[in-house]
Amino acid sequence: MNLKLISFHNFRNFSDNQFQINSNLTVILGDNERGKTNLLEGIYFILSGEGFRESREEQLIKFAENNCYVEAKIEDKNNNNSSNLRIDLTINDFGLLKTYFLEKTKKGRHSYLKNLIPVVLFSPEQIEIIDRTMSIRREYFDKFLSGIDREYKKRLTNYNQALRKRNKILEVGFDSENLDAELSYWNKLLIENGSYLIIKRREYVTYLNSNKIIDSKEFEIEYLENKISQKLFSDSLKKELLVKRTLIGPHRDEYNIFLINGDKKNIHFYGSRSEQRLGLFWLKINELKYLEDFFRKKPILLLDDIFSELDHKNQKLIFNLIGNYQTVITSTEKELMKLINLTDHPFYDTIDL
Ligand SMILES: Nc1ncnc2c1ncn2[C@@H]1O[C@H](COP(=O)(O)OP(=O)(O)OP(=O)(O)O)[C@@H](O)[C@H]1O
Ligand SMILES: [Mg+2]
Repeated sequence: MNLKLISFHNFRNFSDNQFQINSNLTVILGDNERGKTNLLEGIYFILSGEGFRESREEQLIKFAENNCYVEAKIEDKNNNNSSNLRIDLTINDFGLLKTYFLEKTKKGRHSYLKNLIPVVLFSPEQIEIIDRTMSIRREYFDKFLSGIDREYKKRLTNYNQALRKRNKILEVGFDSENLDAELSYWNKLLIENGSYLIIKRREYVTYLNSNKIIDSKEFEIEYLENKISQKLFSDSLKKELLVKRTLIGPHRDEYNIFLINGDKKNIHFYGSRSEQRLGLFWLKINELKYLEDFFRKKPILLLDDIFSELDHKNQKLIFNLIGNYQTVITSTEKELMKLINLTDHPFYDTIDL
């Protein structure tokens, strides 16, 4: 399946704009602040139901407006089928309303997303998954697993809610009248939902470790589960009351990526810049492969301005992907066209923003 056409109304900096997307390669060129990343985000939004940099969804709506929509047409080349997609965001008295449409018919989130094309984004900011704190790494895995597993998303929400409630009780601590009863209620919920999260994280890490090689370098990921059980809760209660927060459970899980080269080097702390970038590509390329296996559909590749920072070797890795997937690239540089060997990609379009 391919994306053919995308239109925006009041989405980010677009008022009313429509773009044709090439079924092989589309190159979006434009100076800074023209809307290149916004266009990619619009594609990501219509195919996954979310943007990739909003902290609150209303940020996707154009400043001073209270409604936006993105529409798209996707096409199945094999059987000439096409579908029309649309997502509306409207701010009203009750907050933000989000509505999904498939063939102009209103759908629930799940049935809307069920038959779409998976999408994978590469952007320079993602290096933070490698070079910043554990919580960013956790967020990355949670977002990915939530995207492929509805149950994971639900359980993660339940877990986080229960965690907040439990932490509130620990803050009040010994003064709380029914401390034991209250805690054991939340413990049970945390165990139920947290155990599922741990299983799914473990499974995905096992998948990653079954695909260790990239560019003849070997990576490995270590997943340190913060186990959860009633006994562990009981054992750590005193300490938890002291620090006033929950110390047991997968919100404290850790992921560490190692480069294997005779010895094992933790790339978060000891990797050079290019080793860290390669580690990131290892993660992202595995994401791509996993989605392809899992959905049995070729994902769309979105590459946001990634070439400026890459050395030659890493650029080549990405170029090799381009021919295999429908790809949309943004760049400020006309030079990009020289970088990509267009004889390898005879079918492409450019969009000048
Ligand atoms: N909700 C919004 N309403 C209106 N404008 C917005 C909104 N969100 C972001 N913008 C603006 O849209 C413009 C384009 O942003 P975008 O990130 O797409 O730029 P870009 O072309 O990718 O630039 P760069 O090359 O610097 O990455 C920016 O000036 C940004 O501030
Ligand atoms: Mg940008």
